[in-house]
Amino acid sequence: MEKKSSLQNGDYVVIKALDDGVNVIGLTRGIDTRFHHSEKLDKGEVMIAQFTEHTSAIKIRGRAKIMTSNGEIESGK
Ligand code: TRP
Repeated sequence: MEKKSSLQNGDYVVIKALDDGVNVIGLTRGIDTRFHHSEKLDKGEVMIAQFTEHTSAIKIRGRAKIMTSNGEIESGK
């Protein structure tokens, strides 16, 4: 069976864009924290993402509904 990082524990972050042009930005894990991926979502589009060995933080620019195991929050208001 494929060995999974302990970070990929089945916890997903669900991001639903409430406007066009929402950016979901992945930031690197480790000594330097930099952008490694940017995904653009249009209104109604959903991204489901995990924290991984490469991704330590997720930054969201624009209006979106963000659902996590810690609760729900809306960005961009
Ligand atoms: N290649 C990235 C990774 O494995 C893909 C990714 C996972 C990602 N979670 C993300 C990109 C969150 C942006 C935001 O870490």
